[in-house]
Parts: sequence; structure tokens; C-alpha cells
Amino acid sequence: MAMNMIDIILKKRMGSQLTKSEIQFFIDGYTNGEIPDYQASALLMAIMFQKLSMEETVNLTEAMKSSGDIIDLSGINGIKVDKHSTGGVGDKTTLVVGPIAAACGVPIAKMSGRGLGFTGGTVDKMESVPGMKTSMEPEAFIKQVNDIGLAVIGQTGHIAPADKKLYALRDVTATIDNLSLISASIMSKKLAAGADAILLDVKCGSGAFMKTRADAIALAEMMVSIGNLSGKRTVAAVTDMSQPLGNAVGNALEVIEAIHTLKGEGPADITKLSLELAGVMIYLGRKADTPQRGKEMAMEAIQNGAALKKFSEFIACQGGDPNITTDETLFPQPEFRLELKAASKGYIGAIDANVIGLASQHTGAGRMVMGETIDMSAGIVLHKKVGDAVMAGEVLASLQGDVESKVQTGLSECQKAFKIQLENPSKIELIHEIIGLNL
Ligand code: URA
Repeated sequence: MAMNMIDIILKKRMGSQLTKSEIQFFIDGYTNGEIPDYQASALLMAIMFQKLSMEETVNLTEAMKSSGDIIDLSGINGIKVDKHSTGGVGDKTTLVVGPIAAACGVPIAKMSGRGLGFTGGTVDKMESVPGMKTSMEPEAFIKQVNDIGLAVIGQTGHIAPADKKLYALRDVTATIDNLSLISASIMSKKLAAGADAILLDVKCGSGAFMKTRADAIALAEMMVSIGNLSGKRTVAAVTDMSQPLGNAVGNALEVIEAIHTLKGEGPADITKLSLELAGVMIYLGRKADTPQRGKEMAMEAIQNGAALKKFSEFIACQGGDPNITTDETLFPQPEFRLELKAASKGYIGAIDANVIGLASQHTGAGRMVMGETIDMSAGIVLHKKVGDAVMAGEVLASLQGDVESKVQTGLSECQKAFKIQLENPSKIELIHEIIGLNL
């Protein structure tokens, strides 16, 4: 008997397990427009209440992955390792770990996204480099990775169209926060992107999608299982996003901080996280026997200049000006700068990453409406991080951008992010857990 959506919705509503072909029927029908939004919404809501088993989640991921193009990276020599961050404020690690891993012999063929709301995407950040191209024909992309070991471009083609449609529907039907739906959404895109192994950086804290450590670990475990069951070695790091990562938030500012980090002069947190992630990528790419050895190789690549050299090559290959690594004035320069000063003395107890992200967006660094042009010079530099002592009147952050009123609005917002307290706060754990190394 032919399948129909009413039976499938009812079956899930009653708590039964959907078969692989029922899930395929739903994804095919919804992607090609035969299943209407109202039936898809009803099924999503049934899933919210009744949940999906691991088997159903894997089948959903596979069906979503197969709804569009699957990128063929077989023309690239070696084990291709992809990295994905669930998104955070000031997260410029791709621009650091990509060159490090490539300098250590791991081919990186990465498709990155644009910013969503206040979390800037790698592609937006790259476009702050004068001349930099972020799109390329597939043959040129593969050739660049074979030639220099690293290419990063914006998402091309038609990857997981089922996710694009379903995500938009979930967004407006209060069906986002289900672990299976989130995992299938992220992993369908990652599995379609063609790499052999995947490193996930699952952020947790106020500036992240997952607010608690327990939720972030549960999401990481589920995505690692899906990746491995789908035949790709997958590891996930669960890392802090309760305060912004590094000191810089904003496009050009973040690329400049990535360059500092590649020179071995970056902030402690971004340096530590980048070395840890690069170590795992080098291990996944089988260039090191252990993640620890991978981390040592990553450190060597920073110390001997190989990682910075790889970054310059990558910039030049994609049309950017490689002199940016020695001359920061080549980046777009802001018209206005303002400083946020501490109202009282004490210790920095918290810097709400979410609020900093919004403040940076207000300065012009992020889009307020879809398709808006970004001010590449805009953003925030934090001069204090959680646990630092501060005197009244000391500068907490500087804000910059081309439009004075926007920088001013950013400043008022930024003020709300800082909590100054008398007692020294407990230390923030940067890396909570790494999942999947023993599988
Ligand atoms: N990011 C995604 O790509 N999908 C989700 O469902 C949530 C976050």
C-alpha cells in the first residue's frame, strides 16, 4: 500500500519507530514540494515529543544528505579532514587550524558558511582581506588543495536542500531544539561535503546554541555516532562559549587576530583551542599517531613559521594580498573608534558572549537583515577577559566602525555584557571534553 503522511505522523505521534523508507518518503516529498508545510510541521512536533531513536536519526541524516549534491573530493590526495564549529562569538579558529593542519600535511578542502545573525561566518571574515575570492570552480578548488594543501570557499551548489527547507520551517514552528533534528541538520551537510574525517567543535555557554555542558555533550555524542555509523571518522570537542573566544570580534579584526595566533602571538584561549583542534585534525589525517603528537606538530608549525607561510600562500592563491600578514593597515580601516571604560574596580566576573555578539552586530560587523552589506572594519576588541582585575576608568573594550551612530549603539550594548565583581571568579574551563577519540 502506498505510504501517506497522515499515517506517518500518526505513527510517530503514538511513539512508534519510523522505518527507513517512511523517513525517505517524508524527506523526498518535503524537498520536492509534494508534502505541504503543515504536515511536515505536524511530524516535526510529534518528533519533539516522541523523539527519534539513533537508527531513525541516522536514517534521517542520510536521507537529508542525499537530497542534494554530494561533493566529490576523491581527486584530492590524502585523507581530507573537515572541521565544523556549531558557531560562536569571536570564533576564528578555522583561519588558524586550517593553515596549521595543511602545513603538517593534512589536506583541507573546506566549504564555510556566512554569518547567521551575530556569529560571523568564515567566508565573511575572509572577504575582509583585500582581493580575496571565496568562490571557485570545483576543478580549481581541487587543484588548489592538491597544490598547496588548503582552500576555503563559500558553500556552493545544492548541499542538503532538505535541511535548508526544514531548518526554515523548524525556526518558525518551535521545533529547533531537539537533539536528533539538530544532529541530522548539521551532519547531513557535513557528510555531503565530501571529507574523509570530521572534527566538530560543539560550543557551549551563553553565546552558543547549547547553553549547558550536559546538552552540548549529548549533542556531540550523537553527532559523533552518526558520523561513525555513516562511515566517517568523527571526533567532537565540547568547548566554552560563555565569553567570546579571543579578544577580537568582527571581520577584519578577527583575521588580524588569526594572523597574530599563527605568529605565536595570539591570545591564550584561541591559541590553546587552535592547538588542541589542529592536533586532533592532524591525528585524524593520519599524520600523527596520537592527538598529543598532532598538537606538538601544530606547535612546531607555529614556531618554525610554516603555518604562517601556509596562510600567506592560501591568501595569495585566492587572490588576496599576502602582505596583510606584515601590514595590518592594508585591512579596511574604521572611521570611528570608541572606548568602553570600567565604572568600578574589581574582577571581570562575566562577559556575556551573546551580548558582545549583538553589540558587534550593531557596530556594523554583522547583518541586521538578510543580504545586508557588512562593514568589514567594524567590531570590538576586548581588553579584559573573565578573571582579569580591573581599575575604575580602565578600558574594557574598544569598538570601531565606519558609522558613528552604529559604533555608539554598539558601545551601549557592549556595556551590558560586562559584569564586574569584588571576588575573583572561578576559572572557566576552555575545553570541556573531547568525544570519539577512542572509537
Ligand atoms: N545549526 C544547524 O545547521 N542546524 C541546526 O539544527 C542547528 C544549528
